[in-house]
Amino acid sequence: MPQRRSGPARGEGRTTLLVAPHDNAISQRLADALVDVERLFASELSSSLDCVDELVVHIEQYRGKMLRPTLVLVSGMATSADGESLTGAHCTLAGVVEMVHMATLVHDDVLDEAQVRRGGKTVNDLRGNETAVMLGDYLISHAYHLCSNMDSPMPAQVISAATNQVCEGELHQLANRENWSLDEQTYYQIIRDKTACLCGTCCRLSALLHDAPATVADQLYNYGEKLGLAFQIVDDVLDLTGSEDTVGKTLGLDLRKGKLTLPLIHLLQHGSPQIGDRLRSLLKKDDAIQEIRAMIAEHDAVGYATGVAADLIDQAKRSLDAVPDSPARGLLAEMADAVLTRKL
Ligand code: IPE
Ligand code: IPE
Ligand code: MG
Ligand code: MG
Repeated sequence: MPQRRSGPARGEGRTTLLVAPHDNAISQRLADALVDVERLFASELSSSLDCVDELVVHIEQYRGKMLRPTLVLVSGMATSADGESLTGAHCTLAGVVEMVHMATLVHDDVLDEAQVRRGGKTVNDLRGNETAVMLGDYLISHAYHLCSNMDSPMPAQVISAATNQVCEGELHQLANRENWSLDEQTYYQIIRDKTACLCGTCCRLSALLHDAPATVADQLYNYGEKLGLAFQIVDDVLDLTGSEDTVGKTLGLDLRKGKLTLPLIHLLQHGSPQIGDRLRSLLKKDDAIQEIRAMIAEHDAVGYATGVAADLIDQAKRSLDAVPDSPARGLLAEMADAVLTRKL
């Protein structure tokens, strides 16, 4: 039988959050709520078939940063009457968004032929593409199963609209493989669809579960969307410049898969014609990653991308003005800042 991990005890907290745990009531409440989410996650996905349960145990062992459930939980606290309460529906929603996210990661690792995820082996590396495709389907199907048991059909409608958009973003990205003239606006549209929309949805839906005013819910969507855009830009920078040991996943895959990201798009569009020609010829080669990395460093291509990410984080934090002041709102601002300094 596969060994199910027991998980952290209540109140122990997690170190995988974007922000370090604080010794205060909100932080403690968040840590407790995340333990509940992990339990829900495990109970929803467990299977009586060992061959399925082994896979579930494998992916549960390697927990990520829990960004999306944390966005749900902290937005929920920030929009409650007392600034810290959550309902059972928030816990369910937090489990649903992590399941949707993991489904996209398991499938994305097939597309990217990645070997390492969250410091462990990817499902495709461990068991092959067929198993990984089916496990991704299993995760998404369970996410909708959980959602469909909620009191109102609204969360399922909103989440499914968001996952439609995620798939469109991934398909749009695939359609632009090896498009060396990809422009900045198309890049933003792709990352808005594949990543930022789900982050915005986590925040907005969580506010709606507390019947928050539409303006507050919409501004929280803006907060999550801007944070998500910056998050993906930083992820793309880490793919080019990060260390695999620290980030915990296979890097350099965007280049290997012909995906242009912001540092290179900027260099191609705004560098000199000589830089553009040299970069395009390197991009067409299979084994030029080190030379491309050297060009990125020489021309500070990353500086532009991190500047865009910093502007987006400023915009995200300004959207929080619509939310009543509370420690939970402060945590949302802190999470936004942490996106810019994250190393994993
Ligand atoms: C990875 O997301 C995919 C992107 C949208 C960049 P995360 O970096 O949130 O992955 P985990 O959940 O922490 O592993
Ligand atoms: C994937 O983007 C985003 C998803 C919606 C799955 P990436 O391909 O950059 O994610 P990583 O780097 O593999 O985590
Ligand atoms: Mg990937
Ligand atoms: Mg990436």
